[in-house]
Amino acid sequence: MEKNQLKSLLTDMSLSEKAGQLLQIHGRWFLEGGYEPSTGPALEFEITEEQAYSAGSVLNETGAANLKKLQDKIMSRQPHRIPALFMADVIHGYKTAFPVPIALGCGFDPGLIERISAAAAKEASAAGLHVTFAPMADLVRDPRWGRCMESTGEDPWLNARYAESAVNGFQGADLKEKGKIAACVKHFAAYGAAEAGRDYNSAEVSERTLFEDYLASYRAAVKAGAALAMTAFNAIGRIPCTANERLMRGILRGDMGFDGVLISDYNAIEETITHGVSVDKREAALKAIKAGCDIDMMSDCYIHNLERLVTDGIIPESLVDEAVMRVLELKNKLGLFENPYKGASAEDEHEFILCEEHKRLSREAAAECITLLKNGGMLPLPIKGKKIAVIGPLADSKEILGTWAIFADRGRVVTLRQALEELYPEAEISFAVSGGLDEAAGAAADADAVIILLGEDESFTGESRSRADISLPEGQKELFDAVYRANKKIITVLLGGRPLAIPETAEKSEAVIMAWLPGTYGMYSLADIIFGKINPSGKLSMSFPYCSGQLPMSYNALNTGRPKPKGDGFNLYFSNYLDVPNEPLYPFGHGLSYTEFEYSDIRLSSGVLTAGKPLTASVTVRNAGKTAGKESVLLYIRDLKASVARPIRELRGVKKVFIPAGGEAEVSFEITEETLRFYDINMEYKSEPGEFTVWIGDKDMNFSLRDD
Ligand code: GLC
Repeated sequence: MEKNQLKSLLTDMSLSEKAGQLLQIHGRWFLEGGYEPSTGPALEFEITEEQAYSAGSVLNETGAANLKKLQDKIMSRQPHRIPALFMADVIHGYKTAFPVPIALGCGFDPGLIERISAAAAKEASAAGLHVTFAPMADLVRDPRWGRCMESTGEDPWLNARYAESAVNGFQGADLKEKGKIAACVKHFAAYGAAEAGRDYNSAEVSERTLFEDYLASYRAAVKAGAALAMTAFNAIGRIPCTANERLMRGILRGDMGFDGVLISDYNAIEETITHGVSVDKREAALKAIKAGCDIDMMSDCYIHNLERLVTDGIIPESLVDEAVMRVLELKNKLGLFENPYKGASAEDEHEFILCEEHKRLSREAAAECITLLKNGGMLPLPIKGKKIAVIGPLADSKEILGTWAIFADRGRVVTLRQALEELYPEAEISFAVSGGLDEAAGAAADADAVIILLGEDESFTGESRSRADISLPEGQKELFDAVYRANKKIITVLLGGRPLAIPETAEKSEAVIMAWLPGTYGMYSLADIIFGKINPSGKLSMSFPYCSGQLPMSYNALNTGRPKPKGDGFNLYFSNYLDVPNEPLYPFGHGLSYTEFEYSDIRLSSGVLTAGKPLTASVTVRNAGKTAGKESVLLYIRDLKASVARPIRELRGVKKVFIPAGGEAEVSFEITEETLRFYDINMEYKSEPGEFTVWIGDKDMNFSLRDD
């Protein structure tokens, strides 16, 4: 449709039709009962069948045949036959589940995220979906918050690269294209700063920290063209995001230039009553529409109140019109007026869903993201000549996809036992998976090497799954100790969607692998890593603390006026603890390989950088070992003095390179004046002349930024 046709359509619509376009309800309203797959609490709200069929969009209903039928039903009840939008949570895969985003973050490969998002879009589009509620771009520095599973970790710059890559993967160059779906960046804003790591709790962040750290990834997604954004459940500065006009109209639309559709999170408009800023649903609707929230997901505030707010003269109809126009424009960008079914196709479902290409990509992704945290020399295991005991119920678990893999085909999940038996039948492996201490100890005693699976299945992370204590789940320490008494040659494989506090277990293990929640076929890659067919290359995108008491934590912290001096032990009158170290057990960027990468000193093209004359920082990385491998080469900077305190390190570059055994690679990064910008004392985003340190790997060098 042309723009003027959209305007004519809007003009012809009744006020109640317009209000309908701003309602999103679960697909189950149109079909027989139930909320499954539920992504929120069961709600008590009353809407008539007519109101339901006036809805402009539908939540979490899928399937080409199902959605074609539903689209016909809805359009037949729409006075102007306006097609509905079908939106769903396709966060890290549709039917083919890729590793959870916190794992993908450890791949340090934005290109991989783009390819995975494109694959997920292909499956979802074939199933008739138009919009995905992804990327989840929330910065997270507290793994007590269960939704860290859905994030890519603690670094603003890295999360920004991932967010833009996901948008590009989902949307491509043209939303009308088959196999492409609209991206919805969420949750705006600072949802990951939930106090005490407790989901839905308030976020207390300064304006500068909000802009510097928490907004970076949303900003990147908006710049990449995200077609939608979603409001966050939390309050910032005691104002619920969904009713926060300055945050939504001022920052998201004004400062960032977002001109897409803003959808509330699930029932979040009504929850402004519970927050205590709206007295009833009428005021909740008023505050949200004034804040610029276009679609009301799963509440009846808009559908029951917007019309009256206009006819009572409380708001101008133009406020409703601007929201409706954005919804109509999104439908138009997707080509729904010409083809209401868009990509829905039983043939394409058959061709793309769980296809061999996506299976391979799922294994590749797991191979890139599984992270080797410790290796005393046991890994990789020889395929023959050793009796291996695989211990722990998680070896047989299919609950390893993540709670947002709501559409994944769990019947297809490959467990570690299945992967080992299929790929390594010649290995001498026994399994003790009951969780019983005697069975485990007996199996360990008879083995030359033990692989024990510990950590969390998917039920421990995701929405509404916060843990105050992120040590091993109940019973697992006893299981480990029983095995340790019988055999010290232990390889601990951790599963889960969050960093875990496992200092004692790590200390007593010969090797530790973080396998995360590796997806439908990810256990194949874990098996290949254990036996050395794949050389691990994951690096942590989120710190592993010693204990919950250190949280929140991140590598890019401020120095403070009394930084703890280097070295162990307590230092009176310095910033440290009496009982634990300041440092994490495993830091951001930590990850081992089966080979050794050696970095040369940094070479700078100049010691002085000006706005007109960027500089290049280069190193030679040599693979000094006997195994080919990939290395994520990371570039950090530090602004040594500025008008505000600056972090002791900030990631500003990533390059992942493959280097054959004995080979070497030249890796260069361009550092520009833009690289050094930050929110200064006046909250202006700019650089300041002065001295900087640059690190690549473990090598560092200083340079100066000068005014032109
Ligand atoms: C949930 C989540 C959000 C999701 C939405 C729809 O409550 O917060 O991330 O996209 O509801 O399922």
